[in-house]
Amino acid sequence: MDYLEIVGGKKLSGSVKISGAKNAALPIIAATILSDKEVTLTNLPNVVDIRTLLKLLTMLGGEVEHNETVAHINNGSITSTKAVYEIVSQMRASILVLGPLLARFGECEVSLPGGCAIGQRPIDLHLKALEAMGANIEIKGGYVRAEAKEGLIGAKIIFDKITVGGTENIVMAAALAHGTTTIINAAKEPEVVQLCEMIADAGVKIEGIGTNELSIEGTCWKPLDFQTVEIIPDRIEAGTYLCAGAITQSTITLEKVNHQHIRASIDKLESMGCTFELEEESITIHPAETIKPVSLITIEYPGFPTDMQAQFMALAVMAEGESLIEERLFENRFMHVSELNRLGADIWLKGSTAAVKGVEKLYGADVMATDLRASSALVLAALVAEGITNVRRIYHLDRGYDDLEGKLSKLGADIVRKKEA
Ligand code: UD1
Repeated sequence: MDYLEIVGGKKLSGSVKISGAKNAALPIIAATILSDKEVTLTNLPNVVDIRTLLKLLTMLGGEVEHNETVAHINNGSITSTKAVYEIVSQMRASILVLGPLLARFGECEVSLPGGCAIGQRPIDLHLKALEAMGANIEIKGGYVRAEAKEGLIGAKIIFDKITVGGTENIVMAAALAHGTTTIINAAKEPEVVQLCEMIADAGVKIEGIGTNELSIEGTCWKPLDFQTVEIIPDRIEAGTYLCAGAITQSTITLEKVNHQHIRASIDKLESMGCTFELEEESITIHPAETIKPVSLITIEYPGFPTDMQAQFMALAVMAEGESLIEERLFENRFMHVSELNRLGADIWLKGSTAAVKGVEKLYGADVMATDLRASSALVLAALVAEGITNVRRIYHLDRGYDDLEGKLSKLGADIVRKKEA
């Protein structure tokens, strides 16, 4: 197993290119199932999760040609509609094939994803919505078996909670349904917006893109013909590198970003004393003289993203004063707290809130990555910890960060990937 050895204390400088967004690419790859023709995707991030979902498509019988950032996918040849446990258990987002498989083939079987390190993460809202669209759903042997032999029917879906994956699954299902589907309380994350735009560009009439109410006119089971899609920049990767600049008190530039998508992170970093120069597709962060404490609550877009909570906690550890961080989306997303404390942080947890008392110094130690974003928080802390930090179990990082150690090394960090003896 690989681990990262990081020697803290190096200043960063220069620029880093932000990759395509994993969380935009995953639903877009799933959406290619709605077509029986070739679709080209560009600016894909070179991360494990993307390869896992592409592998699932080939297991279903799809043809995939993939080289790092570009994939040509042809799902005209799909022969199976079963998404097996071996893949879904590796990556929860595989559940995104449920809506498109059911919509295109009228039946499918998808393994239940199960819980994960950050909480239970049920899919009840996805299933309830598909049932409202006429699907028969049964859970048996660890699989969701869904059937809609006459095709799905447009319906009015009211989500009890805003769900990104749920909205994406239903948008994809609705695209081929008979009639119009309305989604109330839809997610409006940039990744949902790009999926809707891809489907709208294929000729499906969608109203309300980027709002909490979507209306989708289905094609009555006619497969879609997609144009080439260029994946949007990864706002979480961008936010993570901004935190790297802030925590190491360095000036660095991020190339290929969408400022609008990272507004919540920029605002919080400004309140912590950082300043910014914005150009059309790039952003330069100038560090704070002393990092001020922050108060933040994770919430749906355009609020502060839960996927940036752990990285801001690492930064708050180095602030002068006490920060308060409340996690509202996932019940167990604080696994990084005890690992940060191993490096010398002073963080107290009470329910869904963490109180972070700033410290003057962190000290290198062995720490363990627990989930994707928690892992990047440990890397950030390691960049300023005195001595050597070994971040273990970095397969979590490999799922979602494109060449993290390469990009950080290029910025001047002392970070190397090593193999456990
Ligand atoms: C997506 C992102 C993830 C991000 C999350 C929230 C992808 C691949 N992943 O995950 O990085 O942290 O959005 O921004 O895009 N819920 C239910 N029932 C459901 C569905 C969700 O109770 O059927 C709950 C979840 O447990 C959670 C909340 O709703 O508490 C939001 O989850 P959701 O938006 O669905 O997250 P994901 O789509 O899984």
